[in-house]
Amino acid sequence: MTTTTLPDLTVTPLDGAQFGASVSGLDPRNITPDLRDALWGLYKERHGLLCFEFAHMLEADELHALTAIFGENEFAPGRINGIGKRAAPGEEHLTVEEQVARLQAEGVDPYMAYIGNLDPKTLEVNQKGGKFYGEWEWHTDMSYIPKPPTFSLLHARVIPPEGGDTGFCSQVMAAAALPADLRERVRNVTIKHDSTYGSSGQLRPGMTAPASPIEAEGHAHPVIRKILTTGEEALFLGRRTNAYIPGMELAESEALLNEIWAHATLPEFCYQHRWQVGQVVVWDNRMMLHMRHPVDESMHRLMWTQTKGEAVVAA
Ligand SMILES: [Fe+2]
Repeated sequence: MTTTTLPDLTVTPLDGAQFGASVSGLDPRNITPDLRDALWGLYKERHGLLCFEFAHMLEADELHALTAIFGENEFAPGRINGIGKRAAPGEEHLTVEEQVARLQAEGVDPYMAYIGNLDPKTLEVNQKGGKFYGEWEWHTDMSYIPKPPTFSLLHARVIPPEGGDTGFCSQVMAAAALPADLRERVRNVTIKHDSTYGSSGQLRPGMTAPASPIEAEGHAHPVIRKILTTGEEALFLGRRTNAYIPGMELAESEALLNEIWAHATLPEFCYQHRWQVGQVVVWDNRMMLHMRHPVDESMHRLMWTQTKGEAVVAA
């Protein structure tokens, strides 16, 4: 890719990646329909990964405006019953609107997640601890629901001197390079995406540990999905931990999952992003896996939003 200039924007490929582009010069509070179309064109051309460069930390409304380029806001996990959270006893009757109103009255943005161990307002280390969302394992955000979020956005507020990079792994490239015999064996196969554990291995709020992956709660999706906006195919694996292929013996499911995952995460499909403060990285969850690399947890903070998704369509 040669350096491209959209109106008022400078676009360059991401260092060392076969996909993705860096975009600078964007004003999140001034997104015109033409600019939105140009950014969608760039997203398709660069296979689902864009990095917006800003010289400052964004306000929440600016991050929401960027999110709106790509779709309607989805709730952050753990905020609304049924989305990474089980209703507390006696609160099963609350409507989504009632839950949103209650969160907003408490000063909580139901659409924003804070990743790290720093207080959202002061950016000081949160002495209570326990606020860190570990992301050590390749995964797709919230793939355990029927309509997983399509886009995720991460905004770097505080970054550590080392570590804490985010890895991205193109599942479009992985699908295109899928060996013929493996493709045949995963044709018409689904994977159940576990909802009980998060990416760092912690049980989600209100969840109990299943006896085995067979009993784990979560939605099943086709292994190879069609990306409706680009016509491409992508592997859609979710997360390896507690995954299960319905209809198989557990040992058979584990063996096939291990084989698919070994192919899907080959280094040639992957890119490791080193953060700079002010950046917003947006990616298409249908097209790629992501993971956080190890970091000193007191030194790291990101803001995260995501868009609503769609039912997964088999390729
Ligand atoms: Fe994630």
